[in-house]
Amino acid sequence: MKAIVQYEYGNSDVMRLKDVDAPTPRPDEVLIEVRAAGVDAGVWHLMTGLPYMIRLGTGLRRPRNPVKGMDVAGRVAAVGAKVTEFKPGDEVFGTCGGAFAEYTTARYNKITKKPPNLTFDQAAAIPGSATAALGAVRDKGEVKAGQRVLVIGAGGGVGSYAVQLAKLAGADVTGLCSTSKLDFVRGIGADEVIDYTKDDFTRDEFDVIIDIAGNRPLKHTRKALSARGTLVVVGGDDGGKITGGTGWMVKAPLLSLFTKHTVRGLISLANLKDLEVLRDLAEAGKITPAIDRTYPLSEVPQAVAYAQAGHAKGKVVITLS
Ligand SMILES: NC(=O)c1ccc[n+]([C@@H]2O[C@H](COP(=O)([O-])OP(=O)(O)OC[C@H]3O[C@@H](n4cnc5c(N)ncnc54)[C@H](OP(=O)(O)O)[C@@H]3O)[C@@H](O)[C@H]2O)c1
Repeated sequence: MKAIVQYEYGNSDVMRLKDVDAPTPRPDEVLIEVRAAGVDAGVWHLMTGLPYMIRLGTGLRRPRNPVKGMDVAGRVAAVGAKVTEFKPGDEVFGTCGGAFAEYTTARYNKITKKPPNLTFDQAAAIPGSATAALGAVRDKGEVKAGQRVLVIGAGGGVGSYAVQLAKLAGADVTGLCSTSKLDFVRGIGADEVIDYTKDDFTRDEFDVIIDIAGNRPLKHTRKALSARGTLVVVGGDDGGKITGGTGWMVKAPLLSLFTKHTVRGLISLANLKDLEVLRDLAEAGKITPAIDRTYPLSEVPQAVAYAQAGHAKGKVVITLS
């Protein structure tokens, strides 16, 4: 099969299209014929091996798994001996061991049936980003009807879901983004938009702030919180090569001890329960994946570079025919 492989950490030029053996599913896995694969910031981290901390899990000197891409949508080609939940031909989506390939394997409890109303591209745009948004809005932000919510980074992969999920919770949602994304963020349901290149969002006041861009000091962002408001830190990279954006995650709960605000960091892990919640919402038309661009398998390096530049309005997806 064709796959994008990388045998060393580095920029997107370490990725190559190669013919490799198709994986064999273990007893609790399914073999998936990949139809689409999602691209997000996580792919860039796994590709570069940065921050270094992640190499503890992915391989210290070189990547243990040469095929990247976690978010997948496709058709079940074969099932392992212990799998009873799926059969060949089922259309599924979820997370897997390497989605930038014609075939991949996934554990039976990391995937679910694809809603029939979604394309494979749309389904592949859901797992990582929408799960993070759900964790931020529902679990850490505890967003409720009538609250004023600010989403920082509203025009990106996670932000485009956070806006929709906060609206669904009944909140009054403001999206913060750059000029070119204002119409997009309005289009996915934000009640108001603020252009951070022109306006200062701290002149306003919000009950919950979901900070996905994460590139401002927490002290500055908290200026826009109401007296008992909640700040959820989802992302952002402080440039540190050792721990990268994770510095915010450590600072967030510590800050909560010393202020009247609640400050929480999000560590989102793909899980079937949330994936099923998101599938049901997508099936009911309550959330819609926003896809900016699709790329063929051979252009994964370009897709990763485009997503990493932060210009995408919503998600970037790899489409396999
Ligand atoms: N904590 C977790 O478990 C978790 C899970 C998933 C992702 N993440 C992290 O979340 C971050 C975002 O991921 P993503 O996939 O959504 O990335 P993305 O698609 O690139 O979105 C980030 C958005 O932030 C915007 N942005 C950049 N600078 C900004 C600023 N100063 N103010 C407001 N917005 C700004 C960018 O667009 P514009 O500047 O054009 O508006 C972009 O739309 C990454 O750091 C990722 O690692 C964390």
